[in-house]
Amino acid sequence: MSVAKKEYKRVTVKSLIEMKEHAEKISMLTAYDYSMAKIVDGAGIDVILVGDSASNVMAGHETTLPITLDQMIYHASSVIRAVKRALVVVDLPFGSYQSDPKEALRSAIRIMKESGAHAIKLEGGKEIKESIKRILNAGIPVMGHLGLTPQSIYKFGSYTVRAKEEEEAQKLKEDAIFLEKTGCFAIVLEKIPAKLAREVAESVSIPVIGIGAGNGVDGQVLVLHDLLGMTYEFSPRFLRRYMNLYDDMTKALSRYVDDVKALDFPNEEEQY
Ligand code: KIV
Repeated sequence: MSVAKKEYKRVTVKSLIEMKEHAEKISMLTAYDYSMAKIVDGAGIDVILVGDSASNVMAGHETTLPITLDQMIYHASSVIRAVKRALVVVDLPFGSYQSDPKEALRSAIRIMKESGAHAIKLEGGKEIKESIKRILNAGIPVMGHLGLTPQSIYKFGSYTVRAKEEEEAQKLKEDAIFLEKTGCFAIVLEKIPAKLAREVAESVSIPVIGIGAGNGVDGQVLVLHDLLGMTYEFSPRFLRRYMNLYDDMTKALSRYVDDVKALDFPNEEEQY
């Protein structure tokens, strides 16, 4: 079903709030480099997240913890050079904001200044309230992230669904309201029960964007490489693969190898 929607030449934090008011769902995807970001932006995605999932997807680490602020800035500035329409949000990496609010602000300023990003995202609720406030006071838009927060993976012990128990669900609801009251412009909810996610989305006026959080929220986010089927080891229930690029690329590359070995490439037309 196609949904009539307002055309946004440039998506801003205000546009996202307007989309929620008009019940227009928000599309969000990750990108970490210039070439992919150009395609993602050209396809009309509303928000591009330069996620710290770059640590897994681009660098092959097991978790998001190792990626550094300098590396995030490198990815973010590559993405920014490609983007004309989408709002670009950049993750503050692990270790760049948890120790004290001044450091959090310094990290956020570096991202904004050195990459040209439009907003930052960080993981957590009330426990990082001073950092969030300080960043917001500097005029930097902040997106929250609750539920499964991968930077805390060693505390959780696994990537299973979060907030299934009442106590954790209650804390998550309170944190979402806290993030809205503090001035965050949106919240990502990762891998929590759909019913809880819908409740949260209905309880706040800022957009709630889900990943593995059902369809009662205001938008969806996925990791680009998962959606394109470039990764195959990762197969959570919430992932819809729109392509099988891993297989398609492998076939294309094998053909190239065969052509080179068979002296079929380059042919007469492909040389000077
Ligand atoms: O880093 C990331 O890709 C994310 C999304 C999973 C929301 O935070």
